[in-house]
Amino acid sequence: MVTPAADAERQLRLAFVGCGAIAEWHLAALRAAAPRTTVTAVIDPDRDRALFMAKETGAEPFRSLDEALAAGTFDATLIMVPHHLHEELASAALRTDKHVLLEKPMAPTLDACARIVDVARQSTRVFLVAENAQYWPEVVLTKDLIDDGAVGEVITARAGHCAAPMEQFLGDGNWRLSVAEAGGGVAIDAGSHWLRPLRMWLGELAEVVAVTGRPYGAMEGESLCRALCRFESGVVASFDAVLSPGPVAPLPLFQVTGSRGELVVDVLGRVKLYDGSDPRGTVVGQGGYLQSYERQITAFEAAVLDGVAPPAGAEYSLGELRGALAMYRSAASGRWEAVW
Ligand SMILES: NC(=O)c1ccc[n+]([C@@H]2O[C@H](COP(=O)([O-])OP(=O)(O)OC[C@H]3O[C@@H](n4cnc5c(N)ncnc54)[C@H](O)[C@@H]3O)[C@@H](O)[C@H]2O)c1
Repeated sequence: MVTPAADAERQLRLAFVGCGAIAEWHLAALRAAAPRTTVTAVIDPDRDRALFMAKETGAEPFRSLDEALAAGTFDATLIMVPHHLHEELASAALRTDKHVLLEKPMAPTLDACARIVDVARQSTRVFLVAENAQYWPEVVLTKDLIDDGAVGEVITARAGHCAAPMEQFLGDGNWRLSVAEAGGGVAIDAGSHWLRPLRMWLGELAEVVAVTGRPYGAMEGESLCRALCRFESGVVASFDAVLSPGPVAPLPLFQVTGSRGELVVDVLGRVKLYDGSDPRGTVVGQGGYLQSYERQITAFEAAVLDGVAPPAGAEYSLGELRGALAMYRSAASGRWEAVW
């Protein structure tokens, strides 16, 4: 089993529902940052994946959530399955009184999300959506700097997720290549990790205008989405999500332009402040994407065991989903589309 700390505090017995690519990242985070959590069940209809994770964790393998629920060896679930299965599995876990940390997006349609929220409201258990960007150290630091006035009044911002498709997530036969299973392409999927920071810094999205394309031909949904996002504050930011079949240059992930300077988050996890004092900018912080998973599982553990409120509730994640869906509507209509 993933070894809990030796203290006598209450333990969280967790089931992994889905033992694919991201489950390995979550396991590494859990080992690093959730000492009171023990993985006691690992569930996957793919026997090899379930057995692999059972070997890693020492937990009991199951072929289905129903089978694992019957065994009754866990109090919480971390649900990491293709998007079209989120509703069925999250609802089943909540209805049987399990705490739920559900991978993003909550579900691929707003109707499915509304049904999950309805079930969650009838439950007394913790329900969170795993939007790890909320815990991304560079993003949190950038928010603090903006709030402290480091760049003055924010004029505009840029978010760019441009990458070659990773075999692990987008290789042959992956469910993400199917719109029916993923709900769309890159904007609804990885794009959420670039939209969440914009929302944390600039407030709620009001409307978007977008174009989409398919440079990565294997993917049925869009592998390119370029959008302008207008926030309720009136600030306009750009959002790019591109899965390019060829190599890509290491552009900044985020750039926030203010009346007194600029903040840049780069691919090396650095936050740089350009305030005129040094033309190369000043490194004001160093984070790392993987740390976001650690902080996220710590927050889930604390929410369940200590009743500590997380920085964002599950329903806040609907903002990224609404943003992506509005981009799809805009790409079809050729016009600005309201997000809410
Ligand atoms: N936060 C992030 O950075 C991040 C990154 C990657 C994936 N994700 C999310 O994690 C989820 C899973 O993505 P992935 O890349 O790990 O996919 P994956 O295909 O690698 O793994 C999914 C696993 O779920 C299993 N599965 C299918 N049906 C199941 C069922 N009924 N019960 C239990 N298991 C079942 C599959 O056999 C597979 O092993 C998605 O929601 C995705 O958006 C998040």
